Amino acid sequence: MRTPFVAGNWKMNKTADAAVAFVREIAAELDAIAGIDVAVCPPFIAIPAVAEAVRGTKIGVGAQNMYHEVSGAYTGEVSPTMLQPYCQYVILGHSERRAYFGETDEGVNKKIVAALAHGLTPIVCVGESLAQNEAGETQSFVSGQVRAAFAGLSNEQAAACVIAYEPIWAIGTGRSATASQAGDIIRTSVRDVLADLFGRETAEAIRIQYGGSVTEDNIAEYMGQADIDGALVGGASLKPTFIKLVRAAAG
Ligand code: PGA
Repeated sequence: MRTPFVAGNWKMNKTADAAVAFVREIAAELDAIAGIDVAVCPPFIAIPAVAEAVRGTKIGVGAQNMYHEVSGAYTGEVSPTMLQPYCQYVILGHSERRAYFGETDEGVNKKIVAALAHGLTPIVCVGESLAQNEAGETQSFVSGQVRAAFAGLSNEQAAACVIAYEPIWAIGTGRSATASQAGDIIRTSVRDVLADLFGRETAEAIRIQYGGSVTEDNIAEYMGQADIDGALVGGASLKPTFIKLVRAAAG
């Protein structure tokens, strides 16, 4: 069975000092929750200090982005080898990266390959806009994003990834998809597409998170869906009540 996995995406929040103070506050209680994997994804500059603060606990650390090259003339970018000493995970293709920073499906594909080559687990984000949702294009758009992100990957590479389905209209809006809506899209547009690409056995091994206004109050409903294996959590991962959310996700 797939072990549930909740990751907190802090986005551009918390200075390094505030990040360390926060993880120190929540680490012991998070560490005590059995049967679930948990990670926090701070801003780059807080990553080394947060990694140090959670050392010896079950809490993983993830980055929110990276570039696919290892080094070179790429001003402002951070490479997989720079993250690797501190991180187990890296969020790739978040809708905010795609919308504000010009990330493309092709770029996300390169980043997935680079992350895996350096021992990082990609959390690959997909999800449709409100306009696409209302136009009935969700299935075709999301499955297209999955196909593009995973193009050319081996079964082994695919199996080492996590995917987060995050409808853009549900991110930070308080307007979450219903659990059955999210479960249906994840089954038809993510897991079945992975099965088509890599075979059913590989597809069944891949963890798929829901993201978009997940809270301690609604997480249990999502976890009740057979194909939802956890959550990528933004706003609700910034507060100590994140502990309650993770506890509820662990069931
Ligand atoms: P939210 O963000 O939980 O604040 O909606 C989720 C995300 O963007 O990963």
